[in-house]
Amino acid sequence: MELDREEQRMFDGELGEASRESMEILAALGKIYGAKRMIPITSAQIAGVSYKTIGQAGLDYLAGLADKGAKVRVPSFLNPAGMDREQWKEMGIPEDFAKKQIDILDAYAKMGISKTCTCAPYFIGIRPKLGEHVAWAESSAIAFANSILGARTNREGGPSALAAAICGVTPYYGFHLDENRHADLLIDVKCELKGLADFGALGSAIGKISKNRNPAFTGIRSAGEPKLKVLGASMAATGSVPLFFIKGITPEWNVSKDAERMDFTEADLKAARESIDTGLKPDLVTIGCPHASLEEIKEVADLVARKKPTCDFWVCTSRKLKDEADELGYNRTIENAGGLVVADTCMVVCPLEEMGHIVTGTNSGKAAAYLPNLCKQKVAFGDLEDILFR
Ligand code: F3S
Repeated sequence: MELDREEQRMFDGELGEASRESMEILAALGKIYGAKRMIPITSAQIAGVSYKTIGQAGLDYLAGLADKGAKVRVPSFLNPAGMDREQWKEMGIPEDFAKKQIDILDAYAKMGISKTCTCAPYFIGIRPKLGEHVAWAESSAIAFANSILGARTNREGGPSALAAAICGVTPYYGFHLDENRHADLLIDVKCELKGLADFGALGSAIGKISKNRNPAFTGIRSAGEPKLKVLGASMAATGSVPLFFIKGITPEWNVSKDAERMDFTEADLKAARESIDTGLKPDLVTIGCPHASLEEIKEVADLVARKKPTCDFWVCTSRKLKDEADELGYNRTIENAGGLVVADTCMVVCPLEEMGHIVTGTNSGKAAAYLPNLCKQKVAFGDLEDILFR
């Protein structure tokens, strides 16, 4: 694979050990996937942030890289961490976990990476434009960037996104290229999709049958960004889907002539919802997977202002939107009803299993897919009103 002069200098170690190691990773990836060259990126989203997922070995690796003088060349930010940096005690996070988590965030900050920890960066103004190349690592953010924004990213892992951030480039292959941005599965949605849970159930069902094909949808007449993020996140969780199209909504629409066609009916929706929900009453409800938008936080506040839930509940979001919700009074309403607005983290990457919860409620197909295995939780899945007041 061809490297330009600057990339070659990094590869040869002329710009330091951290750049050398990072360019080595990128060049190796490029070779595996047949990239002819690198492409500059405008931002990187780095996964591998929670101490729960990367452990001591991950922390040691990051601290070592920071000590070698690693510095990012493009605006870079983080996936959710294992706790709210400010409210970890209120969340019930163990103290030794909190200390390690802070060390991880400090190592990233030393490399010049923003401590913004969110899986929905597009809700806080990080919105690469149509055709813009980025290296993002969180599966739902990848699906949103590729599909809803029309930006271009491969499914980066934590190390490859970090390497791309340090070098400012990524290998030019996969979803960066026009020829790979097509759908091979065409779904005509024949039923009405109402709340987030319907979009989560649709995504969950289609992800399971996608088998490495990108889906395209007809029949979805309108959907705001919270519904689109939930659809993409759910397909990413059950089928690793990085790109999808919706007729009339997504900026790109490119369906292969020989795409398999199928209908998604009312009966399919009902079956999808029932397959996810245990029917149990949750002891904790977690909203915001991917991280909640301001309108979702408002919706929860409006709901719990009228009626107090009988279980604990969290709304997970970014620090920026949490602060905005605070100014608008939503957080106080939620807290008065016994809830917590948590920033920087989520129900899946925090140590939920160590915090005494057994049944967790969600309206997200992605959280429903991960909570049983990663957090040892039974799942109550449904619309907001159902899970909060079940
Ligand atoms: Fe985000 Fe956590 Fe869901 S990282 S997409 S809220 S599992």
